[in-house]
Amino acid sequence: MNCKMNFDLNWLFKPSFDLKDITQPNTDGFVPVHLPHTVKELAYNCFSHSETAMFATYVKHFCVPPQHANQRVILEFDGVMAYHELYVNGQKAGTHIGGYSRSRFDITPYLAAQNTILVMVDSHENKEIPPFGYTIDYLTYGGIYRSVSLYFAEDIYFDNVLFRYDLQGQNATLYPELYVQNNGQKTSVCVQISLADAQGTCVKSYQRTVTLACGSSHVVLEKESISDIALWDLDTPNLYTATLTLMQEETPLDVYTVKVGFRTVECKPNGFFLNGKKIKLVGLDRHQAYPYVGYAMPPRVQRKDVDIFKNYLHVNTVRTSHYMQSEEFLAACDEMGLLVFAETPGWGYIGDETFKENSLHDIEAMITTEYNHPSIFIWSIRINESNDDDAFYTRTNALAKSLDTSRATTGVRCIKKSNLIEDVYTYNDFIHFSHPVKNYREIALVNQQTVTGLTHQVPFMVSEYCGHVFPVKSFDGEEKKMRHVLMHAAVQSANQYRTDAMGAIGWCAFDYNTHGDYGSGDKICYHGVMDMFRIPKYAAEVYRSQVDPKIEVVLEPATVFARGENDDNRPIPFVVLTNCDYIEVVAYDKVIGKYFPSLTYGGLAHPPIMVEEDPGRWQDIWNGGAIIGYCNGVEVARKTYARDAYLSALQVCADDCALQNTVVDATRFVCRYLDQNENILPFYNGIIQVETSGDIALIGPSLLTTLGGATAFWVKTLPTGKQGTATVTIKAVNTQLPSQTFTIHLAPQDTITVI
Ligand code: GAL
Repeated sequence: MNCKMNFDLNWLFKPSFDLKDITQPNTDGFVPVHLPHTVKELAYNCFSHSETAMFATYVKHFCVPPQHANQRVILEFDGVMAYHELYVNGQKAGTHIGGYSRSRFDITPYLAAQNTILVMVDSHENKEIPPFGYTIDYLTYGGIYRSVSLYFAEDIYFDNVLFRYDLQGQNATLYPELYVQNNGQKTSVCVQISLADAQGTCVKSYQRTVTLACGSSHVVLEKESISDIALWDLDTPNLYTATLTLMQEETPLDVYTVKVGFRTVECKPNGFFLNGKKIKLVGLDRHQAYPYVGYAMPPRVQRKDVDIFKNYLHVNTVRTSHYMQSEEFLAACDEMGLLVFAETPGWGYIGDETFKENSLHDIEAMITTEYNHPSIFIWSIRINESNDDDAFYTRTNALAKSLDTSRATTGVRCIKKSNLIEDVYTYNDFIHFSHPVKNYREIALVNQQTVTGLTHQVPFMVSEYCGHVFPVKSFDGEEKKMRHVLMHAAVQSANQYRTDAMGAIGWCAFDYNTHGDYGSGDKICYHGVMDMFRIPKYAAEVYRSQVDPKIEVVLEPATVFARGENDDNRPIPFVVLTNCDYIEVVAYDKVIGKYFPSLTYGGLAHPPIMVEEDPGRWQDIWNGGAIIGYCNGVEVARKTYARDAYLSALQVCADDCALQNTVVDATRFVCRYLDQNENILPFYNGIIQVETSGDIALIGPSLLTTLGGATAFWVKTLPTGKQGTATVTIKAVNTQLPSQTFTIHLAPQDTITVI
């Protein structure tokens, strides 16, 4: 369906639903909104976990443009939580179950000259829809939280293309599978296939003739070879553009364009292999939730998370816990080279037969929608941490295999000796619960055969660790944060040493909203290595510091280097996350020593450096000091700490200062209170006031308090489609610090057509 229009703008929204609205539309109680949208904005924390559970109504009026008058009209929703019914001009055009899968409706039969689309959205936690049914440790919010598109098509059009291929070295055999809708008679059509490289040069072009039955058909095209393919890899994520054109005689009927990456992925008992090369998987789990608006953040913000994983945390894997995530997120993983462990919705509970059918639909939707993403290396097709149900999981596995034989299947378990029906045994390993905080244990992770109960090794990986066993807030005391650091370091060190696992993915990247059954009693699980604003805690630096110093020198002491923050009124011991060869520490007005990476974490490329002995005395003048990083004997980084640290600056960093305003776009501003040496002041309780001017709006409140010395906010564009500028002014309330104004450049994006 090549003629795609964006349908995100100018909806009317009401946080209730009345049957009468279907046939007698009125505007009472409706407010104008644009998508993505959440049924209710929440406070940062301490709200009720049921505030977003409701029936809601979305209405949009539109006319079919005259040039499309005789075409089919297809409406597509990328994500609506959790169940929706679609009415077109008062007639029911379809329903969709599931808050994470795409829905598509051919609305042609219901259309008139002037049209009213009405969507009833039910965001209650319905026990027949995964992940609901019992408790869940996350919030699912509600609303049309991803984009909506309208397509105009001929009677014959592409519904989907699974661009299947086999790869031998750099030679590929292509056999795309077409899902075609034929609203006419049985017919023969020609399919032209072309493949262009990143520069747009056509590297292959061929055609096939296929017969299409009436209705939906799946056609696998006869094979074709191509050589000298540039492979998709983590450092060189080469992508090609495949264009498939349906031709009837000389007339093009439809065009389908998809990005394709060529690579092999193998999950074996001795590890994970990408293009035949063994790679240890190091990653973090991701919830797609943000403060205030939950899931309803536009593409740029989704993509930013991939940038954080790849270019800040320098990890190679993300798990889409515990559901399908946005197309933009996956596309960014393809583009930047981040491996994806793709998971079907669910959390600990298997419901009745209807629930199981809905879960099977989710799995089918996940695989058929996400198939072409080279970044996805595995399908996770169990309900996360559910008990064995061999009959059900034999069906989920068979379904996945019937749709994709190129990738392994798995299912995430928290139980030992579970029946391995899928290819890979994946385990949430929290053995380090007591390590190294309460009762020191040597064990960071469990041997795979202790988990599987099998006498032989199977493909195995760790899908979660840390998380609830050690929640840490950015405003916690330093010792707690340091233990968090060491727990992540211990697990990743063991991950690197062990030969019986493909890798380990930690719980989790970002703090997230949750139900009262979990979290810290304020509806937040503080399990992230970053907070909900994606501001790093010290534990994030464990991952970041593994990067080669030629790419980025990292020197992040997990300390404020103050006399009295820790027990015993001592600034030392502390830990430094760094990829420097060694550090020097200056304290008590002298160099107190050189310190080297700790062998306790020797599996890591760059283990933390422990500074353990405090040579000082309680009554000495605390003169601050310095932590200096050396590579090859040369100073490459330095942190300086003052005796008399005081508030000196509010540092504000914008992710982007150019936004599009054809539809809603958004970007983040991170604010940190710093001392005179540019060290963050985690115990400064700052208040920040944000004002905007021009065609942008702030997401969330305009008065913000810092958490651990920092906070962030997002601004979004008002989709005026006009070139211009807007400003964002940030003021550090209760201080003499000057306010700061940022100019945001606004411009329409001509690749998006709105209707
Ligand atoms: C796991 C679960 C995750 C999260 C985590 C907290 O058991 O799969 O969703 O709740 O615990 O550590």
